[in-house]
Amino acid sequence: MNISKRAGSIPPSSTLAITAKVREMKARGEDIIGFGAGEPDFTTPAVICDAAIDAIHDGQTHYAPTPGTPAAREAVAAKLREENGIDCSADHITINNGAKFTVYLALQALVDPGDEVILPTPAWVSYKPMIELAGGTMVEIAADASAEFKITPEQLEAAITPRTRVMLLNSPSNPCGTMYSPDEIHGLVSVLERHPHVTVVSDEIYEQLVYGDHPALSVGSIDSMRDRTVTINGLSKTFAMTGWRIGYACAPGDGGAVIKAMNTMQSQMTSSITSFTMPAVVTALGAGRAEVDGMRRTFAGRAELIHGLVRQWDDVLCPRPTGAFYIFPDISCTFGRVSPGGIRLESAMEFASALLAEAGVAVVPGNDFLGPGPRHVRMSFATSEEQIAEGCGRVREWLGKLT
Ligand SMILES: Cc1ncc(COP(=O)(O)O)c(C=O)c1O
Repeated sequence: MNISKRAGSIPPSSTLAITAKVREMKARGEDIIGFGAGEPDFTTPAVICDAAIDAIHDGQTHYAPTPGTPAAREAVAAKLREENGIDCSADHITINNGAKFTVYLALQALVDPGDEVILPTPAWVSYKPMIELAGGTMVEIAADASAEFKITPEQLEAAITPRTRVMLLNSPSNPCGTMYSPDEIHGLVSVLERHPHVTVVSDEIYEQLVYGDHPALSVGSIDSMRDRTVTINGLSKTFAMTGWRIGYACAPGDGGAVIKAMNTMQSQMTSSITSFTMPAVVTALGAGRAEVDGMRRTFAGRAELIHGLVRQWDDVLCPRPTGAFYIFPDISCTFGRVSPGGIRLESAMEFASALLAEAGVAVVPGNDFLGPGPRHVRMSFATSEEQIAEGCGRVREWLGKLT
């Protein structure tokens, strides 16, 4: 059977592949500490589950409006107004099957073949394939650990051309675990203000999970950017709802023109999200918000713990995690050395596979995150303090045996 060139050009998600491999190894009874997971290890708050269960029993089991019910869209708009300071209404909101599909729809709505999309790297593995599926050309701006993986206004200015259509921003960042301060966002915005043809797609899925001195500043809350920012968020990470598949976008510009285009595509692709989750959206963004701070505080404690432990690894550089639930150490000091099992470490790829085979610790090699990624591994701290301590101890011991 013929597989299209489009399908053939897209690699599978490496992060989901690691998660699947660890699941298999654990099912075989192997003693694995997994730092691969891209999802909270908490369960969805009961009040949110109850809202969906009640909706099923109430018969809300038929097709829902494509962009989401009016109540769910209003709940999202209210959250964005109150928590993020974005001037928007329900008409500017679309609700989609996970923020991953929201990013996909936004790029499909904005990018024509040949358009350039600026992507600061290291970046989440799915952005590049999604840019390419839209026919866009990725223009990478790399930032390394010494800059906490953050690009400068000068780098941004140098990357913008007349063909730039979109700048993708993800703060706090997967995989870096760092975030832009409000001043740094304003610095980037001062460049964007000189280039009104550029739209910002701001993926703020980790915006509530922050551990530093600043809250996350939404680009779309800055007056000059309101009409050319697509803000993307969802319930997956904040409310431990990854399996529910609920993401959303807000774009008030041109009377919600981007949202309308996304809805038209969604109407032909998936219709709407699952109907009986709509009341759960309203509950999560209402009563459910009270549960978020407890999860955030637990993540903050783990961020501190894992950073302290990783810093004990000789010569490994690692910025402090200030957002999301990832830490992204530079392990390039091990390159050229040989693991206890006889594997020569040349990049994060060999590092991760030797570590898994020899120490039973699963990390994600940074190669697919681009930029300086091949010198790094991503470790998720969406796991217990005991697992963090045990896993980091095993890595330290294994590092001590490299020759
Ligand atoms: C930066 C970023 N954006 C979007 C998503 C997708 O979230 P969802 O599970 O809602 O599709 C992820 C998930 O890993 C992510 O890390």
